[in-house]
Amino acid sequence: MIYELSNPVSKTLVNHLRETSTDALRFRHIVQELTRLLAYEALKTETLETQTITTWKGKQTFGFIKEEDLLFVTILRAGLPMIESATALFPKASSGFLAMKRDEKTHQSVLYYDRVPECKGKTVILLDPMVATGGSLCDALSLIESRSPKKIISLNIIASPEGMAILKQKHPNTHIYIAQIDDALNENMFILPGLGDAGDRSYNTPE
Ligand code: PRP
Repeated sequence: MIYELSNPVSKTLVNHLRETSTDALRFRHIVQELTRLLAYEALKTETLETQTITTWKGKQTFGFIKEEDLLFVTILRAGLPMIESATALFPKASSGFLAMKRDEKTHQSVLYYDRVPECKGKTVILLDPMVATGGSLCDALSLIESRSPKKIISLNIIASPEGMAILKQKHPNTHIYIAQIDDALNENMFILPGLGDAGDRSYNTPE
């Protein structure tokens, strides 16, 4: 299932990411805002667990998302602002980290760090702003699937149609929420029109 945001707020934010005048601080801020918009959509059918809390009128019962069942997993490094945003919304959720680097020649993703806690029974929410060839996200999804979570959701900001097609084919059961599906991939496997390299843009890393 692929759900693309269609609201004008998300489109405006994505288009600000494309501007080269958007500096690293604002870039990360926009990525965080988009992560929140994606999370609202992705969790809109979540059931609420009733909890009794102390309010100014004494003890009362209200519904809450069971944050402890959520596990946010990000792919370094461009996903870091996304996990900051997600865990600010749900501070009791747990976090996991994967580091993958896309080999610039073969365009294959290479896993070099895996610090993901127990996934059994959890709703795992993968966070990576970019889906170009789809290789990194497919590998991350396969790894998480092998660890038997209750459900997998992927939150992404921008993708190529080619990357989305691969995901649909290889991971048909994953729920993907994305802010923008762009036009194409170029010969260097960059998204067009795209926004450049989200990791470099987020942290001012020169090429
Ligand atoms: C980017 C991006 C994804 C991957 C997408 O990371 O954040 O993880 O490329 O490309 P793919 O769909 O073709 O696999 P990158 O390897 O540039 O690392 P970075 O986050 O450190 O910039």
